[in-house]
Amino acid sequence: MAADPRIGDVRRLAAESLADGDATGWFERLYAEARDGRATVPWDVPSASVNLREFALAGGDGQRALVVGCGNGRDAEHLAGLGYAVTAFDISGTAIALARSRHPRSAVDYRVADLLEPPAEWRRGYDFVLESNNVQALPAEIRARAIAEVGTFVAAGGTLLVLAAAVTDSSGDGPPWPLTRAEIDAFAASGLRQESVERLESPNSGVLLSRWRALFSR
Ligand SMILES: C[S@@+](CC[C@H](N)C(=O)[O-])C[C@H]1O[C@@H](n2cnc3c(N)ncnc32)[C@H](O)[C@@H]1O
Repeated sequence: MAADPRIGDVRRLAAESLADGDATGWFERLYAEARDGRATVPWDVPSASVNLREFALAGGDGQRALVVGCGNGRDAEHLAGLGYAVTAFDISGTAIALARSRHPRSAVDYRVADLLEPPAEWRRGYDFVLESNNVQALPAEIRARAIAEVGTFVAAGGTLLVLAAAVTDSSGDGPPWPLTRAEIDAFAASGLRQESVERLESPNSGVLLSRWRALFSR
């Protein structure tokens, strides 16, 4: 199957970065090139992730939500619209500048932060945590650490929703790299309970042919 043409800049910059031993530096380069009109960010679309929009989330009612790897802020804004008090972070400063400029009147607290070195006060600090499409863009050497970090943000009584690639097309070496079922189960590592795991087919959505949607609680 031919690669989605929008993935070309991702794979070019990721390959360069990984060859230099830098697992995440390509994200900033991609957003900066896109800002300057020299690249395309395939996930920079206006609507929130479909498998978040179609998930039956209760109204946020002021509950604290944390969005991991928020990119342009599409999912963070969706949660804010449901009534959550949202903090959203990304390792790329250019992504955070993009999110702020796209949503100038937003109530979301956008921050530059690294999932692998998060602020200590975020631990067990959120009623709802969203991890959507980020771990699938990380190489093997940091994936287990990234997965383990995500669950630590969930407060007592809180929930974690994980959206991730289960199967990608076979046209390139990634990213994205699909998550195995064992990797999905590993989001429970910080003492979370796995409530549900779904496999959702998405044959018409570019390189992601099938996706995980998994819910955890503490
Ligand atoms: C594939 S994109 C998905 C973006 C967003 N979740 C969405 O679906 O639109 C992965 C995002 O994770 C961010 N990211 C990668 N590594 C990160 C890290 N260690 N800490 C925080 N954000 C990270 C990237 O900058 C990028 O915006």
